[in-house]
Amino acid sequence: MAKIIAGIGTSHTPAIGAALDNGKTAEPYWTPLFKGYEPAKKWMAETAPDVAIVVYNDHVNAFDFKIIPTFALGCGAEFPIADEGWGARPVPVVKGYPELAAHMVQSLVLDEFDMTIVNEMQVDHGLTVPMSLLYGQPKAWPVRVIPLAVNVIQYPAPTGHRCYMLGKAIKKAVESWDENLRVVIFGTGGMSHQIQGPRAGLINTPFDKAFLDDLTRDPERLSRIPPIEYLRDAGAEAIELVMWLIMRGALGENARELYRFYHVPASSTGVGHIILETA
Ligand code: DHB
Ligand code: FE
Repeated sequence: MAKIIAGIGTSHTPAIGAALDNGKTAEPYWTPLFKGYEPAKKWMAETAPDVAIVVYNDHVNAFDFKIIPTFALGCGAEFPIADEGWGARPVPVVKGYPELAAHMVQSLVLDEFDMTIVNEMQVDHGLTVPMSLLYGQPKAWPVRVIPLAVNVIQYPAPTGHRCYMLGKAIKKAVESWDENLRVVIFGTGGMSHQIQGPRAGLINTPFDKAFLDDLTRDPERLSRIPPIEYLRDAGAEAIELVMWLIMRGALGENARELYRFYHVPASSTGVGHIILETA
């Protein structure tokens, strides 16, 4: 049986990818951030999961305003890197797992989560920056990836509760796949940030830290935060945090915190990172 062994929450700030790609990680602005991810990279190298389900949002790169799926599961064999306006990031193509992804769609749809099946899709910084943070800069990614793109760009985004329930259904889907696989799930985006308008630069550190605390202490509370509260209290782009609740739902009742890191500033974002192990 396949098993979800851990969940990873991490911001996906595009400037982090640019710092890595342009050799700027040793600059004073960036050193605390990359130092904070060192233990996580070590953990990932030791853990070496077979499959990573990466919950992320597309930022009008794979999807434009013609089609905006709420929950899109990447079922292709590979996913090219999107050009976000300054060339595609120089990172390896992302290899998928079509058979497992198709099984997940089947299980999720029968559980009444109406997934959009996406066979061809480019992936942007929402997915590639977390991969770089946890895996470094390899020639090929050492893991098969199933991307799950969530709409948090165009109103209305799904609620945190819906995301949490989807996570639970993902656990069931993975655990009904008859192959011994060690699976991790990423929840990406957040934490507090607002990148435009008069409130640009808004960071709410107490909000972020309480969110990190309650991933283990009280995920039910997090699942009841209404979308408007993310926007009001932690900035318009903090709504990306609902994707962390898909990750958390997929871990089951009890999850143990293995590592956390929180840092401001990185571009406009409160950067948060957590690794949770399943019971
Ligand atoms: C920033 C953060 C994001 O999550 C994003 O998608 C774009 C920009 C930022 O902090 O600059
Ligand atoms: Fe984002």
